[in-house]
This record gives sequence, structure tokens and C-alpha cells, in this order.
Amino acid sequence: MYDQTGHALLPRSTHDEHARQNFVQSLKEHLAMRVSPGNKSVYTRRAKPRFEQEQHRAPRDRHEVRRVMKDEPYYQTWSALLRTSQEMMWESVASSVERQLPDLTAKAKTNGRALGSLTLDPDLPIPAYHTAVDVHCMPGGYHSEGGADDIAAGAVYDRAVHIYAMGRMGPFNDDLGASLVAYLTQQYPHLRPRRILDMGCSVGHSTVPYVETYPEAEVHAIDIGAPMLRYAHARAEALGKRVHFSQQNAERTNFADASFDLIVSHILLHETSGTAIRNIMRECHRLLTPGGMMFHVEVPQYQGMDPYDAFILDWDTYNNNEPFWGAMHDLDLVELARQGGFASETVVQTLVPSAFKMARARTQLFQGGDFGGGGQWFVFGATK
Ligand SMILES: C[S@@+](CC[C@H](N)C(=O)[O-])C[C@H]1O[C@@H](n2cnc3c(N)ncnc32)[C@H](O)[C@@H]1O
Repeated sequence: MYDQTGHALLPRSTHDEHARQNFVQSLKEHLAMRVSPGNKSVYTRRAKPRFEQEQHRAPRDRHEVRRVMKDEPYYQTWSALLRTSQEMMWESVASSVERQLPDLTAKAKTNGRALGSLTLDPDLPIPAYHTAVDVHCMPGGYHSEGGADDIAAGAVYDRAVHIYAMGRMGPFNDDLGASLVAYLTQQYPHLRPRRILDMGCSVGHSTVPYVETYPEAEVHAIDIGAPMLRYAHARAEALGKRVHFSQQNAERTNFADASFDLIVSHILLHETSGTAIRNIMRECHRLLTPGGMMFHVEVPQYQGMDPYDAFILDWDTYNNNEPFWGAMHDLDLVELARQGGFASETVVQTLVPSAFKMARARTQLFQGGDFGGGGQWFVFGATK
């Protein structure tokens, strides 16, 4: 089991809370490593031959795989347990955060002594794609608040991500940012961004690696959720990192045209909508300086993927309150970038290895969820 590195804000667990959280993490690990591979055997030995007998051909896409797999008891059991583990994860962390909330809230106050900044907008409309469902079953989603100065959603997210990824996002949960930064420093060794924007930053896990790698840059990070941003600000300060957080919708921000030379996001796009993702592309184009670049990290697109792998990776669309997951992974990203104003020939689509070496060592398996890309991340980018 890999430990999460403590910082002043990280919720502390009692012995019993820790035991429950460890159980959930072990259950997730067991499902991913031991049970999930059995789905493939069930598919190859039973479901696929059944389909072939009826249709006289192999399943062509993930929808056809799903049609035959959803009736398989083995798959149903794995799926029910995975969903249950997700609900147990949030519960095991939320009750622990609730117990210590007054203490955490007090710790989160920077009392005017801050390297970076926090700007909230209580009037910001929360997009319907976040109010309609509790994304990935997180109770209340990213934006719900129990009162003034609430940081609960951020504190829950920080602990839960570590359990969700079975520790393989690294001790600071920063694997997405660290992996993209590793790619950028390798591919663009002369890149010296002056202003960087991280869209959909949550608690700033992925934002911090940019502060570390580009110390001369002014780093901004936005999110729609106030509790995430309050926690993100306090966490960044506790880690001694200067970040300017603001509560804004990435579809339309209040930054001036050409404000940034590097815009990044990490597992944001699949949590938006068909309209929003197009708005975000246009906004990235507006915000970039000429020659500036945007990069978005996700799990791989379905195009060209084995139908069975795509089916497994698509689990979240149907079972984990991620309604845009499947549609987003079907998008033609060159066309998406083009509609946003980027020239097609500048579009980059590539796989990058996870920076946290234990994630790479773990498995080449595809499984459901943000962490399901087999130890690699998919990077989609374009240049203005
Ligand atoms: C999966 S989390 C991102 C995790 C984070 N980037 C990281 O690497 O740790 C998605 C985040 O995007 C935010 N978000 C979703 N839609 C957004 C939008 N239109 N504008 C800004 N933030 C948004 C959510 O509130 C949530 O915090």
C-alpha cells in the first residue's frame, strides 16, 4: 500500500477510519488486479462466441460487446462490487472529514498571509452537467457547500483520489500533472511559459508540478467548485507553492485575450458536455498568445481501440455517473480543435507514460475509470 504524503490540510484518520479506508483501497485493488481480468475470459470463452453464433461475425464496437456482457453473472458481480467500492470510498472519507471539519476549516484560513491568491465568485452559475448528477458518485459533487468557508468537498476529494487510484497517483496525487510536465520538458525543452492556466484544477493536485517545473511562470488555476478552490489554495500555501486560484467556468473566463502561453487540463473534458467542450476549445484559443499551446490529459480515445477494451473503459458511462464519458471518448479531436479555431496540423494526440513509476509497473490492463488507461495517459493538444 502506498502512503499519501501528509501536508497541513490533509484530513487525519483515526485507527478505525484508516482501517475502513484501507479496506476500500484493498477491495479496489483486488477488483482491478484479480477480478477484472476474469471479465476478459468470460468474454472470449462465452459472450463473444454467443454473439458470433447469432450474428456470424465478431462484435464491432463497445456497444455490441456490452450487449452480450451485461447479462453475464461474472461481469454483473464485478460491476456491482466496483460500484459498491466507489460508494464505500466516498462514505469512508466523508465521515472522517465531517468529524474534523471545524479543525480543517480553521487550518485552511491563511489570514492574509499567502504566496498566491484565491478569488471566489458566489454568483457563478454552476453548469447543469454538475448539478444534474453527482459526478462519479461523489455526494454533492464538486460544488456543494454546507456553509461559509466550507472546504469539505476538497478535503474529501484529496483523500478519496488516493484511495481511488490505489496510491498510484503518487504521494501527492499529482501523477496527471507530473506526467504532462515530463512530456513537455522532453518534447519542448526550450518552453519557458510566462503565464500558465490549469482548467478544472480541483484541489490543485496537478497544478503544483507546473509551479515546480516553471518557477518563473505565473500559474493560475480555475474551477467551478468553491470548496475545492478554498482547499486547493490552503493546500498550495501549506506546500509553499504560489498559485492564483479563481472560481470560473472554463467555457468563458474573465481573463483578457491572449493571457496565457500554456493552458492545461487534467481529466476535465470528460466531465463537461458536448456544448461545453466546444466552448472550452474556443476559450483556450481566445486565451492563448500566438504560438501558445493547450494540452488536455485524459484516458485514451476509443477510436482504433479493441472493442473489448473500450467496453471495459466505458464502465463509468453507465455505472459511475459520468454521462459524458463515452461521448467524449468518441469525439474526433482534430475536428473539435478545428472548430475551436486551431489549425488541424497543430493537433497532437499521443500517449505518455505515467510519471509515477509504480503506476506503470502496476498493470497494462484497461479497467473502468480515470485511472483505467493501463499506466499511460492520453494527451490531446494544439497550438494557436
Ligand atoms: C476530475 S476533476 C479534475 C482533477 C484535477 N484536474 C487533477 O488533475 O487533480 C474535474 C474538475 O473540473 C471541474 N470542472 C468541471 N467543469 C468545469 C468547468 N466548466 N469550468 C471549470 N472547472 C470545471 C470540476 O469542478 C472538477 O473539480
